[in-house]
Amino acid sequence: MPYISSPWASSSSWGKECPAATSLEISQFRTFFLFHRASTITTTAMGSSSSPMSADEDIRNVPAEGVSYFTPAQIPPAGTGLGSKRPDRDAIPKLFTPLTLRGTTFPNRVWLSPLSQYSADDGHATDWHLTHLGGILQRDPGLTFVEATGVQARGRITPQDMGLWKDSQIAPLARITEFAHSQGQKIAIQLAHAGRKASTVAPWLSMNAAAPVSDGGWPDDVVGPSAIP
Ligand SMILES: Cc1cc2nc3c(=O)[nH]c(=O)nc-3n(C[C@H](O)[C@H](O)[C@H](O)COP(=O)(O)O)c2cc1C
Repeated sequence: MPYISSPWASSSSWGKECPAATSLEISQFRTFFLFHRASTITTTAMGSSSSPMSADEDIRNVPAEGVSYFTPAQIPPAGTGLGSKRPDRDAIPKLFTPLTLRGTTFPNRVWLSPLSQYSADDGHATDWHLTHLGGILQRDPGLTFVEATGVQARGRITPQDMGLWKDSQIAPLARITEFAHSQGQKIAIQLAHAGRKASTVAPWLSMNAAAPVSDGGWPDDVVGPSAIP
């Protein structure tokens, strides 16, 4: 099996010192990701080091560029194929090779579809969206899509859909975008209008019920491209 970069390997000092970070197989890397930060913090705090560094070696914890708070730069980002380092292993599958489209290079071809959460607060992304997408972004998609986001209030599927029709909705989305960039990851958004599917309820409540006005529904203001009710 070939190797995929992990957040451990993205730290130059850890990449050199931790054999696990440079011998990671695809079948192992997801589990490995779950532990990387806690392990890094614990072992660093204990002063563990298998080979002492010379005084002139650069061991700075390099910050991610263009991020408004400190977070370590991920070089290369998680999900970057590193190729096979052992002759008895297979070549890296195409799925984990970069793809360049119109000048943008994606580190792999595992892309996340938009996934509506029906959990927004008057169209605003919340901590739920940050943690939901953040956990996925830490783990490697070549591109992550933010869920269907209504360009009008009446263009939402449900009253709890994400929206981008007023300025106050920009900041929470920008926070998610900054987190994506802090991890060296690409992020996109699905701008949407539900048309005549608008003003319904989250699918776990009902697959066909209209949202009541008392719960934020707008049954008298549903618009679509045809006259079909
Ligand atoms: C929880 C959930 C939320 C989804 N939200 C959206 C969405 O916001 N926009 C969209 O176009 N598709 C949405 N889909 C559909 C998925 O993006 C995807 O197209 C679908 O799961 C089929 O994926 P596949 O073609 O890889 O099997 C959603 C699917 C699920 C399971």
